[in-house]
Amino acid sequence: MSAAIGVLTDRLRGMMPRHAIVLGSGLGSLVETVTDQVRIAYGELPGFPESGVSGHAGEVVAGFIGKTPVIVLSGRVHYYEHGRADAMRLPLEALQGIGVTDLLLTNSAGSLRQDMPPGSVMRISDHINFSGSNPLIGEPSDRRFVGMTNAYDAHLAARLEAAAAATGTEMHEGVYMWFSGPSFETPAEIRMARAMGADAVGMSTVPEVILARFLGMNVAAASVITNYGAGMTGGELSHQETKDMAPVGGKRLAAILTAMLSEPDMSHD
Ligand code: HPA
Repeated sequence: MSAAIGVLTDRLRGMMPRHAIVLGSGLGSLVETVTDQVRIAYGELPGFPESGVSGHAGEVVAGFIGKTPVIVLSGRVHYYEHGRADAMRLPLEALQGIGVTDLLLTNSAGSLRQDMPPGSVMRISDHINFSGSNPLIGEPSDRRFVGMTNAYDAHLAARLEAAAAATGTEMHEGVYMWFSGPSFETPAEIRMARAMGADAVGMSTVPEVILARFLGMNVAAASVITNYGAGMTGGELSHQETKDMAPVGGKRLAAILTAMLSEPDMSHD
């Protein structure tokens, strides 16, 4: 058992969250909807990463959304920081170790579709791993051959869709393509991504989906669109734009997730 599991178990005082949320850049406001908060800095959790990206706090926030206990990872490490695709392995193992079964991943992404402008929310229905890397490289057991046919859980997707409908929040659906970053894509890469069947591009999430499936967790994921892909508007892309725009769609995504988790989930009980 990792030491982090011990610290989490002590600090959560009997709270048994089955749902965890990983927050993307600029989506920190979702934490405000969590009541009875217990906050634990990553620094207190052995093996949790120190994230260097501005807009990422590095904190675990446990509490309740409605009556549902949740645990939120505010701050993730990206592949582009140190070249390690498995940077989030220990935190995800710790979540699984305390009983989390359902992982809800969020991110900021660039849109490849004119009908999905900045401020939109897109549920990720599938992904393309275009990074050339994989968080399970080096994993010695045969468990590394993880099936990805049903990587995105149909039941969680239906709950997200129902929550979007119930709150009257538009939610697109599409394929997310993982680029390593940290440089943004070129216009040619964006045209390629579209031709290959992607609807959005980003620099995160896919390694966590792979790790979560490896660990046997159910996964749902959603992107907040912060910009059109490179070359689609003529302007240059910037991290500042991502940070400025994320809260716009972030509010929509927070409404959906809050509604989804406030709803008692009979199917698991
Ligand atoms: N590309 C890659 N990652 C991103 C983008 C983008 O256009 N926007 C937000 N994250």
